[in-house]
Parts: sequence; C-alpha cells; structure tokens
Amino acid sequence: MSTGCHQGATFETGQGRMVCISGGASGIGTGLVAAFLAAGDRVCTFGRSPEKLDLLRNRWPAAIARGQLILLTGDVTDATFRDQLIRLIRERGERLDILVNNAGIIRASSGLEESPEDWRLTLETNLIAPYALIQASLPLMSKSPSPAIINISSVCAQQPFDTCTSMAYSASKAGLDVMTRRLALALAPRGIRVNGLAPGVVVTDIWGEETELIAATVAKRHVLHHRAIKVEEIAAAALFLVSAEAGSITGSILNVDAGYTLG
Ligand SMILES: NC(=O)c1ccc[n+]([C@@H]2O[C@H](COP(=O)([O-])OP(=O)(O)OC[C@H]3O[C@@H](n4cnc5c(N)ncnc54)[C@H](OP(=O)(O)O)[C@@H]3O)[C@@H](O)[C@H]2O)c1
Repeated sequence: MSTGCHQGATFETGQGRMVCISGGASGIGTGLVAAFLAAGDRVCTFGRSPEKLDLLRNRWPAAIARGQLILLTGDVTDATFRDQLIRLIRERGERLDILVNNAGIIRASSGLEESPEDWRLTLETNLIAPYALIQASLPLMSKSPSPAIINISSVCAQQPFDTCTSMAYSASKAGLDVMTRRLALALAPRGIRVNGLAPGVVVTDIWGEETELIAATVAKRHVLHHRAIKVEEIAAAALFLVSAEAGSITGSILNVDAGYTLG
C-alpha cells in the first residue's frame, strides 16, 4: 500500500490545512468550523438541513467568497454523497489533512423504549457512516504531510451512566471508541493519527427540549465546575489533537468532561 505521507512533517498555524468536518452547521460542529477558520485552515462542512447551513453562510460570507469555507448539503449516511464530497475536496485541494467525524444523533431518550429503527439509524449515523467516510478519505489523507482524524465520541461510551438515556447512542459511541483505536493501529504505518474526543454536556440542539436533564446532569456529573462545557473548549481540544504538539498521540480518547467520567 502506497502511503504518500512525509513522516514527521508538520504544519504551522495558518498554513491552510484542508479540514473536513461533518455536521458543522450547529452546536459543536460550528464551534469546530470557527476554530479551524480562525487558525487559517480551509474548511469543508456539510449537513442535511439547508436552513442550518444558511446560518453559516450568513456568518462567514467572506470566507466562502475566498474559498476558505465550503458548505454542502448532504447526508453522511449516503454513499453517493460521500463520494461527491471526496471528489469536491480533491478538486479544491487535492489532499485532505484533517477529518473530524462530528455529525451525530440521539433518536430517543428512553433506553428501554428504543425501536430497532432507532438502533439502526443511530448506528448508521454515529458509527457506520464515520467508518465509511474515513475509508473514502484515505486516498486524499495519504497525500497530507500530517494527517489526523478526530472522532467525536461521548462520555456515554465509557460506563452505563444513569444520566445517559439512549442505549443505542451509548453503544454507537462505544463502538466509535473501539473503532478509533483499531484505526489508529491500522493507519499508524501510513502516519495517520486517529483520536477520539469525548465531551461531557454541551448545550446544543442534540438535547432538544431536555433543559431539566441538562441541568441535572451538569449538577451531578460535572464535578469540576457544575456548568456545561463550552463549544470553544471542545474546539480547543480538537485543535490540540491535530497539532504538531500532539504528534505522538494516536488511539487516545480525550475526555473534555469536567470530571463526568470520574465516578
Ligand atoms: N452536546 C453534547 O452534550 C454532546 C456530548 C457528547 C457528545 N456529543 C457529540 O457531539 C457531536 C455534535 O453534536 P452536537 O451536540 O453539536 O449536536 P447538534 O447541534 O445536533 O449537531 C449535530 C450535527 O450533525 C448533523 N447531522 C446529523 N445527522 C447527520 C447526517 N446523517 N448527515 C449529515 N449531518 C448530520 C446535524 O445537521 P443536520 O440535522 O442538518 O443534518 C447537526 O448539525 C455528536 O456526535 C454528538 O454525539 C455531544
């Protein structure tokens, strides 16, 4: 297998890495888009809802005009869309330096009432699609001097916490963590680092109307400061994981959780 990687090469901030972020039109994804744009990188992001993408269009018109931000409407579970995405990134930059698998869903909030369809859609979106997107990205990532993948996991992958409600969600993220470590091993010979990032509670659309659950979970589990995690804190951790300073980190799951997982 040809790698095309220049082992040991690094980027400096602002050198225009090509970054692909799934689900960048809201929540943590938008925080990631903002952070990578501010670092001088080129960002391609997508989601299913054109309306949500319009928010990014209104926020960053100049970045879009100069080609620093590319927005696409598409579903990460759709193989045809994934192929189109990779083709577009190849046309725009020929290589992909960073892939962040951020798009994710929680279908239902009661673990004992989840249907097989809830399970299928959750696993398809949170686990199978990230794997397929990584697979499709490898030829382009192999052209990068410093390729890195981040899978956005969750603290719910790590223990059967009573504050995690959807079993399908917890299982999907646990699978993502195992996949992260397997991929880190498999892609090490190509110089591609693969890490997970597990947030505690971040107030985003994924919680829907569950404001009471958010408050209770933060109070009980964020033992450090009893507040929600900020998207900027997640984005800062992501920037670190893809930086030259993290050049020896692969196969790790970094918790940004204010102590959620401590007990
Ligand atoms: N918020 C938290 O407390 C928390 C904690 C731990 C982990 N996480 C993880 O963080 C990640 C981001 O979630 P978030 O909290 O920022 O929630 P969010 O605001 O709902 O963001 C999820 C994004 O993913 C996109 N998406 C969902 N399914 C998609 C699909 N099939 N194809 C393409 N895009 C899709 C959504 O856009 P469309 O609906 O337009 O497609 C949305 O923009 C998720 O993986 C989540 O599991 C969140």
